[in-house]
Amino acid sequence: MKPVVWGVLSTAKIGIEKVIPEMLASPLVELRAIASRSLPSAQAAAGQLGIQQAYGSYEDLLADPAIEAIYNPLPNHLHVPLTLQAAAAGKHVLCEKPFALSADEALTVQAAATRVHIEEAFMVRHHPQWQRARELVRTGRIGTPRAVQVFFSYFNDDGANIRNQAAIGGGALYDIGCYAVLAGRYLFEAEPLRVVSLVDRDPAMGVDRLTSALLDFGGGRQVSFTVSTQSVPFQRVQVVGTTGRIELFIPFNAARGGQMRLALDEGGALDGSGVTVETLPAAEQYRLEVEAFSRRVRAGTPPDASGLGDAVAQARVIDALWQSERSGGWKSVE
Ligand SMILES: NC(=O)c1ccc[n+]([C@@H]2O[C@H](COP(=O)([O-])OP(=O)(O)OC[C@H]3O[C@@H](n4cnc5c(N)ncnc54)[C@H](OP(=O)(O)O)[C@@H]3O)[C@@H](O)[C@H]2O)c1
Repeated sequence: MKPVVWGVLSTAKIGIEKVIPEMLASPLVELRAIASRSLPSAQAAAGQLGIQQAYGSYEDLLADPAIEAIYNPLPNHLHVPLTLQAAAAGKHVLCEKPFALSADEALTVQAAATRVHIEEAFMVRHHPQWQRARELVRTGRIGTPRAVQVFFSYFNDDGANIRNQAAIGGGALYDIGCYAVLAGRYLFEAEPLRVVSLVDRDPAMGVDRLTSALLDFGGGRQVSFTVSTQSVPFQRVQVVGTTGRIELFIPFNAARGGQMRLALDEGGALDGSGVTVETLPAAEQYRLEVEAFSRRVRAGTPPDASGLGDAVAQARVIDALWQSERSGGWKSVE
């Protein structure tokens, strides 16, 4: 396969530390350029990582005719605006999560999504541990799936961090609650019908720092989650069925090239004696993600807006969770 020519918008930490090294290591990717609001920053990043071209504005990078695909790891409020600009320039876009601040905002990309491939960058979907968990659910190894429970937390109260700025889409629900919503949608392979949330906001910064929610998927299927930006780092996904249980120990921040472990309890003994621990093949989820997107671009199949459809479905659930915070009650997912 001829490598896809990529450009990266900004010197975001996630790009520099995780995604760009995988792009550079992949034979399916030719990383041509990086842009920053500041040319010296772009040049420093390009020099450090060995990227051919540095641009001093996002617009300059988007004007480069050699670039076919864009990786957009900008702060959340710039995901849709820059995705739209990139699509208008004819570029495919892999955009960081959360794709949009609302479903309405996501839908503004609809017309573009039939001309270029657009996808929300949920790397976890590409990790073997998520794929194995879904396979176990699909093949009935835990009986009928009933409940997905997600916990995801870290501690960051730095007011300068994008996660702690309400005006640009900060807070726990956008940053990590989106993974909990995704876990339920991915494992049940369905959409929630209604949700209720309980939100604690940082009094000074205004962002949600502790958010819990219930998602009713109908048919006796429920997701419950707690996410926090001001708690000790911890993460787990549990999937409980009528006859078994699956546990993912590091569901979101799988170590680079690490072998993740998944527990399958088919016995239900309270002392854990019925638990089998599977070690999954070594994998790098960011590499798998950019390679899957590159293959889609090269496959030549016309964009079908399914990537956007998935991002809109995610955003609808998050919209409903915010509405529930305001009303204090259950909210239908529209
Ligand atoms: N999938 C994952 O595993 C994962 C992990 C972490 C983060 N993320 C997502 O990736 C995105 C970036 O997160 P990050 O932690 O890498 O962010 P970050 O280090 O703060 O980088 C954001 C970049 O955006 C640019 N920018 C443009 N306008 C800005 C503004 N008003 N304020 C701050 N920066 C601005 C800056 O680059 P220039 O100065 O170079 O223009 C900045 O370096 C977020 O959407 C986040 O949700 C995803």
